Amino acid sequence: MASERISVSRAAHGLHGCINVPGDKSISHRVAILGALARGSMRVKNYLCSEDCLNTLRAMQQIGAQVTPGNAPQDFMLTGCAMQPAAPQRDIDCGNSGTGMRLMAGVLAALPFESRLYGDRSLSKRPMKRILDPLTQMGARVEACGEKPGCAPLHICGGTLRPIDYTLPMASAQVKSAVLLAGMLTRGTTRVHQPAVTRDHTERLFAHFGIPCSVSEDGLDIAVTGPVDIAARDITIPGDISSAAFWLVAASIVPGSELTLRNVGLNPTRCGIIPVLQRMGADITIGNRVNAGEPYGDITVRHAPHLHGTDIGGAEIPNIIDEIPVLAVAAAFAEGTTAIRDAAELRVKESDRIATTAGNLRAMGAAVEELDDGMSITGGAPLHGATLQSFDDHRISMSFLMAGLAADGTTTLEGCQNIGTSYPGFEDTLRQMAAE
Ligand code: S3P
Repeated sequence: MASERISVSRAAHGLHGCINVPGDKSISHRVAILGALARGSMRVKNYLCSEDCLNTLRAMQQIGAQVTPGNAPQDFMLTGCAMQPAAPQRDIDCGNSGTGMRLMAGVLAALPFESRLYGDRSLSKRPMKRILDPLTQMGARVEACGEKPGCAPLHICGGTLRPIDYTLPMASAQVKSAVLLAGMLTRGTTRVHQPAVTRDHTERLFAHFGIPCSVSEDGLDIAVTGPVDIAARDITIPGDISSAAFWLVAASIVPGSELTLRNVGLNPTRCGIIPVLQRMGADITIGNRVNAGEPYGDITVRHAPHLHGTDIGGAEIPNIIDEIPVLAVAAAFAEGTTAIRDAAELRVKESDRIATTAGNLRAMGAAVEELDDGMSITGGAPLHGATLQSFDDHRISMSFLMAGLAADGTTTLEGCQNIGTSYPGFEDTLRQMAAE
């Protein structure tokens, strides 16, 4: 677990070297869930051993999956229950993870037993109605029984569902995936229409496991036909672009930097941060591209002396949704104004990321205007170090530690233990980078 409080100061000599970021969080959750239901054993390589994804793996062990350790913690054999899941003996702890809870709710709603999912303080405040609505339409008995209406814990009486055609009210890969996972366990064809393309890892993994799924040419309509028989199949998970994002921004804003990030996932529905930073004048190149179900490659980033503001909004938002706090940090170091719009979903993440990002940037001396659906940042003036809160949000902790590497004085983040939910090893890499 990361320290509770982490301090950094300006990285006077720049950031140098190669970084292997850990496995992709979104893909790891989905691999655990699908592999747990599969027939047979599969070798999983580079699983993200963060608290969020380990919670999902433990939950899957509770319903009958078996995990045999490999040579490294992130490599193991996963043996599925061949669609004969057992009822969990205990309530399922989803920790901090909205993805874990929403995806598992989709699966558990279609399995013939009762289960209860709970999470930490942050997760217990996040909206679950968005999955309860479609799952209820499918005939599921799922109830949100949290102190806050519509929030976790979730009580699920699983059973046979019916297929639906569902139009998502918001662009959310979690909601899309919850419906598709319930659909794959349901007789007939379940269809989802999304207002904008969201990360397509579920669809790609369906293809990997031979699950009958079709996607329209524009990527907006997805159909899955169940019930499925999943055959286990080995998989290697690429590095997480959302973790790489911190270093892409840090190297861009810290003079003298040159970093290479190895084997990072380059799924086109996920890596929008690269074109956005390039539009701002960043120096980013991609090498060793490989396409193996999920594309990945090495990303080299050098300091960008002339970053400038840009407009960010519309259909690119789902593609960069988790990277917006760190993009806002880049914007504070860029000349001119960056306007981020159409990003109201940020208000229901691990923290209200519009408020927490804007508040922390202001505390470092940046000019930020908070908008209902985003923020407007006028950058270029030097930022100064400050003592900041992370608001139970791993991405806020890491984004502002990156800002601290380029700011005057010392920046201290309080409440950094949450970094372990997505990026184990981050603090060690930060120490190495800051020491050079
Ligand atoms: C995720 C989808 C996104 C993202 C989250 C992971 C996923 O959430 O913010 O970190 O793995 O499906 P939404 O679907 O709520 O936008």
